[in-house]
Amino acid sequence: MSDTAEINAGGWRAEDYHRNARFVAHLAADLVAWLAPAAGEQILDLGCGDGALSERLAETGAEVIGADGSPAMVAAARARGVAAVVADGQNLDTVPELDRTFDAVFSNAALHWMRDDPQAVIDGVFARLKPGGRFVAEMGGAGNIAPIQAALRAEADARGIDPDTLDPWYFPSETTYLDRLATAGFHIERSHSFERPTQLPGDVADWLTTLARPFVTAFAEGRARDDYVAAVRERLAGEMRHHDGQWVAPYVRLRFVARKPV
Ligand code: BEZ
Repeated sequence: MSDTAEINAGGWRAEDYHRNARFVAHLAADLVAWLAPAAGEQILDLGCGDGALSERLAETGAEVIGADGSPAMVAAARARGVAAVVADGQNLDTVPELDRTFDAVFSNAALHWMRDDPQAVIDGVFARLKPGGRFVAEMGGAGNIAPIQAALRAEADARGIDPDTLDPWYFPSETTYLDRLATAGFHIERSHSFERPTQLPGDVADWLTTLARPFVTAFAEGRARDDYVAAVRERLAGEMRHHDGQWVAPYVRLRFVARKPV
C-alpha cells in the first residue's frame, strides 16, 4: 500500500468527522448542481466519506455506489444505506465491484488526499466512464489551507520529523489539473478555482485532530500530541481566529466538469 493509501485507510473516525467536518458536505450543494444527477443514472461517488453526499445524490433516483479508502468511512456510509466499497482511488483496477462503467463519477473534497499518483486517479476514472460520461469534482486547489499546512509542517520539523513524510495533501493549480485531465483524454467543459474562507464549526484544534490526522498521529497520544496541536493552533490564532472567537479556514477550491468523448 502506498503512503497516502495507508493514511487514507487508517485513522479516520466517522464520529469525529460527523462532528467536526459536516460542513464539507453542506458546502457541496453547488457541486451537486454541476453534476445534475438524473433518475436512473449510475454514479460513482469517489471518496464518499461517510456517504452524506452519496445519499443526497441517490435521492434524485440515481443509482449511486460510494468508494472510499477508509473502511471506517465505508462502514458509516453503509450504515446510511449507501452501497459503498473500500477502494484506493489510485488503484481502482484492483476493486472487483468497480470493474464496470458509470454515467458519471462525482468527487467532493477527496482527490487532494490521493497524493502519490494523481494521474492514476484520473486514468482510473476515465476507464470507468461510459463514452460521453462526465467527471464532476471539487478538491483543494493551490494555496488551500496554506497557513494550516505551513504550521503543521513547521511544528513537525521543529520536533525532528520530516514534514514530507507526513504531509498527505495534493493541492494542484487549475492549469496543472486540467492538463492532467486532458492527458487522460477528457474534454474540459467547465472549471473554476476560487477562494472560499470557511467558518469552522468549533476550534481549529478539532479540525486538526479530525482532518490533519496524518500529522497529529505522528506524535504519541497525551503530552506530545497535545503540545503539537497547541503549538500549531498558536501559530494560526492571529490569522484565523476572528474577534468573535470563530475560526475561519482559508479554503481554496478547484472545481471542474470533464467529459469522456463519445
Ligand atoms: C479540504 O477539503 O480542502 C481539506 C480537507 C481536509 C484536509 C485538508 C483539506
